[in-house]
Amino acid sequence: MIEYKDKMEEGFDPEENMDLNLQVQVIPKEQVDEEQLKEFIEFFRAGYDDRWVGEEYFRNVVMKNSTELLTMRKEGKLVAAFNFDHHRITDIAVNPEYRGSGIGVKLFQEAARHDPKSWITIAADAEGMLATVTSQGLNYLPVEDKNQMESLFQEGNGTRDNYQVEVSEVEIPWLAARLQEKGIEHSDTFIASSRNKSLHGPTYWQLLFQNQK
Ligand SMILES: CC(C)(COP(=O)(O)OP(=O)(O)OC[C@H]1O[C@@H](n2cnc3c(N)ncnc32)[C@H](O)[C@@H]1OP(=O)(O)O)[C@@H](O)C(=O)NCCC(=O)NCCS
Repeated sequence: MIEYKDKMEEGFDPEENMDLNLQVQVIPKEQVDEEQLKEFIEFFRAGYDDRWVGEEYFRNVVMKNSTELLTMRKEGKLVAAFNFDHHRITDIAVNPEYRGSGIGVKLFQEAARHDPKSWITIAADAEGMLATVTSQGLNYLPVEDKNQMESLFQEGNGTRDNYQVEVSEVEIPWLAARLQEKGIEHSDTFIASSRNKSLHGPTYWQLLFQNQK
């Protein structure tokens, strides 16, 4: 029997998600059993589609480095989830059938509430995820200082030993415009990072966003 660490025990306000009737649970990695692991594998496989890392990598690397997972269910069905490695959100997805109704934003709101220091790296071409993390209801901002990026990577199980990054400028005018809608001035140029031993190879540029407390 899995003992879930229920958000309600931590002062989670169930009213908050009443409109979508979502049940939120935080599950320490140690409490994830094989049945639940299989559910997560199918969930992230469908959610990530051709960006999916594969079952073996998910089991032996992603879950090995995981510290906890957060799930959102609607009538028992898993509709959204993310995985934490300490403060880093390493995998995050909304079930494709439930996209476009604000659940992505709610996921990031839960991440910020559960861990005010939460952060995520997002591929510079992952427009849907970049659009989501910069939504009006969220307070995640780009971290563009190389040393700051490296010290965040140094905190994680999965990146502690290969925390060094290369940085490069990437032009994303629509993202700057989106930040400006929230009153945040930013040039069209963002500093993206790439880690040498990243799963995706050295040319995989990603932006780092961290919640601002
Ligand atoms: C990205 C993702 C989490 C968005 O979930 P969602 O529930 O559809 O998002 P929401 O309905 O909360 O929308 C969030 C905002 O992003 C925008 N958005 C979402 N997907 C978008 C897309 N594909 N293109 C452009 N904008 C998009 C929405 O219009 C909304 O904007 P608003 O806040 O200004 O209204 C979901 O599409 C997903 O799980 N994608 C697969 C995961 C993935 O690819 N991960 C790898 C990234 S490196």
